[in-house]
Amino acid sequence: MKLTTESFANLFGTNIDDLSRHCGDLIHSAEFTYNKILGEERDRIMLQVLEKIFAPKLARAGEERRPDWEQGWKENLDEYLASGYNLEKLIPKYFKQYVPARLNLEYIMPLSPNFVFAYTHVYRTWIFKKYLSEVDHIYEFGCGPAYHLAYLAQLFPDKELFGLDWATSSQEIIKHLAKQSGWRIKGGQFDFFKPDPAFCLNKNSGVLTFGALEQIGDNHGPFLEHILKNRPSICVNVECLHELYSPDNLLSYLALQYHQKRNYLSGYLTKLQGLEKDKRIKIIRYHYHKFGNLYDDALSYVIWKPL
Ligand SMILES: C[S@@+](CC[C@H](N)C(=O)[O-])C[C@H]1O[C@@H](n2cnc3c(N)ncnc32)[C@H](O)[C@@H]1O
Repeated sequence: MKLTTESFANLFGTNIDDLSRHCGDLIHSAEFTYNKILGEERDRIMLQVLEKIFAPKLARAGEERRPDWEQGWKENLDEYLASGYNLEKLIPKYFKQYVPARLNLEYIMPLSPNFVFAYTHVYRTWIFKKYLSEVDHIYEFGCGPAYHLAYLAQLFPDKELFGLDWATSSQEIIKHLAKQSGWRIKGGQFDFFKPDPAFCLNKNSGVLTFGALEQIGDNHGPFLEHILKNRPSICVNVECLHELYSPDNLLSYLALQYHQKRNYLSGYLTKLQGLEKDKRIKIIRYHYHKFGNLYDDALSYVIWKPL
């Protein structure tokens, strides 16, 4: 089987014209072929997923994972420096090759090694160009090894970019990246749980999170208040939004169980919907993106702006 332009458009929640306008020929630059996983093999995968969900030592997101992120991005930093500034070394190691994935609530086995990253690349191209073209400054919160910022710098050389994270190794990467490339990127220390009130956004800014709020469970109040106070022009959250899973579908149900066991982002979309009712924000669009790794669909999005 193969992903077509139409399948990408459906998965992203848009139409072919809009997708082509933003992504051009990108879809044809990689092999998006795969086999569906069925029968006994599907059962085996589900067993593996259930074992993971019930594993007593499944790591839970939160404050105590901070050293893991610090260490993870340090590994990327060391490899980036050792390679003589090869940008591919900034790609997180959770993009694995030749592993099963989730697509449209089925398990699939990609036939090309880099399927998941190549897919994510098409997706980020579409969402960045569609929603972040008009702002002058982009702030990525929880930017980790800054590989989205490196791409944003190439898409939008005139914009000023900021990468925020609680891991100091992330700021170290950005320092080298800026020096080496000459791109307009700055790094900064930022904690979603305790935003520094002195840290302000510039006028006409876009806020981006990509799999980062995932890590804060239900403790999104301090970050949201900080953002509302700073009034960015647009917020793009690419995150696992548990409200969009439907418990009457088996794969959706499994993803929800995994999501809860890992203490991933909780109640965020519901909170935004409440803020919209109170006329504090406008939700431009949200969408359940049915693509992910073996365990969940982590790339849903909500686009919104403060009023
Ligand atoms: C799954 S990674 C996502 C990284 C990157 N945005 C991406 O797309 O691959 C989660 C990121 O959130 C950061 N993070 C987790 N909790 C945080 C917190 N309380 N404050 C700031 N950053 C945090 C981690 O350091 C890590 O960089």
